[in-house]
Amino acid sequence: MERQKLKFPKGFLWGAATSSYQIEGDNSNSDWWEWEQKGKTKEKSGEACDYWNKFESDHEIAQSLNCNAFRISLEWSRIEPEEGKFSYEVIEHYRSLLKDLRNKNMKTVVTFWHWVSPIWFQNKYGFHKRESVEIFTRYGKIVVDELGDLIDIVVTINEPMMPLSFGFLIGKFPPGKINPFAYKKASKNLAEAHKKIYTYSKEKNKNIPVGVTLLYNFFEPNNKNNPLDRLIISFCKRFWNESFANSIVGFMDYVGLDYYFHNKVSILGRRNENKKTVDIMGWEIYPEGIYESLKELEKLYDLPIYIMENGLPDARDKFRADFIKDHVAYVHQAIKEGVDVRGYFYWSLLDNYEWLLGYEPRFGLVEIDYKTMERKIRPSAWEYAKICKNNELEV
Ligand code: BGC
Repeated sequence: MERQKLKFPKGFLWGAATSSYQIEGDNSNSDWWEWEQKGKTKEKSGEACDYWNKFESDHEIAQSLNCNAFRISLEWSRIEPEEGKFSYEVIEHYRSLLKDLRNKNMKTVVTFWHWVSPIWFQNKYGFHKRESVEIFTRYGKIVVDELGDLIDIVVTINEPMMPLSFGFLIGKFPPGKINPFAYKKASKNLAEAHKKIYTYSKEKNKNIPVGVTLLYNFFEPNNKNNPLDRLIISFCKRFWNESFANSIVGFMDYVGLDYYFHNKVSILGRRNENKKTVDIMGWEIYPEGIYESLKELEKLYDLPIYIMENGLPDARDKFRADFIKDHVAYVHQAIKEGVDVRGYFYWSLLDNYEWLLGYEPRFGLVEIDYKTMERKIRPSAWEYAKICKNNELEV
């Protein structure tokens, strides 16, 4: 068969995504740290990948993989260790980190909240409390003031439905509540805080795109001809994929798509096709779903889309290269059909702390030896590097 080159639009962002708590290490002032001490996770995060001290060499790796963009998150508990008291030393650390990315020719995508809050905030307030709006907005404004000049894209909140549902409906994330009323309030407060930070950021610099990321699943009815299956699907979409984004319409410059899941749902429950599942998490690989999700998102919001996360745990690196290529090919297909996709970020640069599951799942383009902290670039990373370098995929 003839080789074909799938060219991406000029200026397309190719990067890797990370989050502070999962890689920095020693975030002992955070609610998640306390959560770990209570035995709620499989392992404790401890030093994580020590990215706090190793960011320069990690950025070198990203640069060697030809990434022209990089996604980080900021640790709120470090920036505001005590209520209302901000650490300018920590802000300076993040300034050096962002400058380092810029010096290495990478655009900076910065998440303000990737699920982790300071202990004082969680103990005294929590997002279900009204005060959380002002408190989180104050933190957001400080970030815009102090770091805004070094940020190319703002993500205020990563996948709000995860901390909202796991934290307030099923009790698996802090604050561990099972309470639909608290869920409702927290959801409203997060949306309000986002809007305020959006507005502030736009006043300061209207050119920096501001938005959120959505853990957006591709839901399909198990039986398209069964009206009950279709009803369940429309509920799943409305609730999981759309409810938060719908509450901030008009306050998003783009949509951040985090695509991992395809769910076939019937009135009898969830059924994945399990065409191919990998590693300990048993996730299905379904690249068509990224195309379907992009098409749906375009229809829903008609905004530019960045794929802010897409990845899989694959310790043996058996599936990763094909996984990336297959997904990227479907992204190209969507672009060809007119969807305004502007970037793709693989999750993640490094193996990292996978929340409740600890260190066993390995998502990294780069393998970490947690004993020595040695970094080893996986073969699939070089395949990704080719795509990033040429801004095209050869199929
Ligand atoms: C989250 C990451 C997480 C990844 C893999 C995403 O939903 O943003 O923090 O590590 O999924 O589970």
